[in-house]
Amino acid sequence: MNSQPNFNLIARPYRWLEYLTLGPILQNCRTHFLPLLLDRKQALVLGDGDGRFLAKLLTRNPTLQADAVDTSATMLRLLRNRCEAATLTTTTRLRTHNRSALDHSPSAKTDLITAHFFFDCLPQQDLDTLIVRIAPHTSPNTLWLISDFRIPSGPMSLPAKLYIRSLYLAFCLLTGLRTTHLPDHEIPLRRAGLTRTHQRLFLFGLLTTEIWSRL
Ligand SMILES: C[S@@+](CC[C@H](N)C(=O)[O-])C[C@H]1O[C@@H](n2cnc3c(N)ncnc32)[C@H](O)[C@@H]1O
Repeated sequence: MNSQPNFNLIARPYRWLEYLTLGPILQNCRTHFLPLLLDRKQALVLGDGDGRFLAKLLTRNPTLQADAVDTSATMLRLLRNRCEAATLTTTTRLRTHNRSALDHSPSAKTDLITAHFFFDCLPQQDLDTLIVRIAPHTSPNTLWLISDFRIPSGPMSLPAKLYIRSLYLAFCLLTGLRTTHLPDHEIPLRRAGLTRTHQRLFLFGLLTTEIWSRL
């Protein structure tokens, strides 16, 4: 049996479902650190969905080359269309790979890895494997840009847990996603020798966007 979730069916309404539930906050979170990425040359973009982040990145950084990896062919098609509409040079700068990020080996020149609301699709063991696999292929100055849900401490903890549980239930029904808990990306990234250099929280700490690198 195929254990991969299938995001094809929700690829088109994905953007509207997001706006209806959280408005522009997720996109603000994804693009918050964009100004720090304008000197990057080679990006590996993991599970970017319909490409709203990548289209902005390619526009703001006109010399960047990018590899986008996603298991959903429909998401990748939307991503390519969006990037081509955003910048004329997309055809020569973007390569798409319809496969699991767990099976992808990054180009040796990769100096940026992005994962927005993608790590939360993976069980802890797969996330550990992914980071161990990818980290050695990256150059010493590679930046990792990661956005994800998190459980804040304090009074927002319970509402956040309930919200995240309901999100996982919805994704289970809509895509067959089997992951039920947020994995911890900090431990495997630190084990791989990376340090968090920037972090910005949104929505009372329910969302985080972070940059990691080897110092
Ligand atoms: C929750 S969506 C997030 C999309 C987008 N990054 C965002 O910020 O909204 C997860 C995306 O990861 C893709 N995906 C899920 N598991 C994957 C895997 N193992 N390898 C590559 N892509 C995967 C899905 O097809 C989908 O496009």
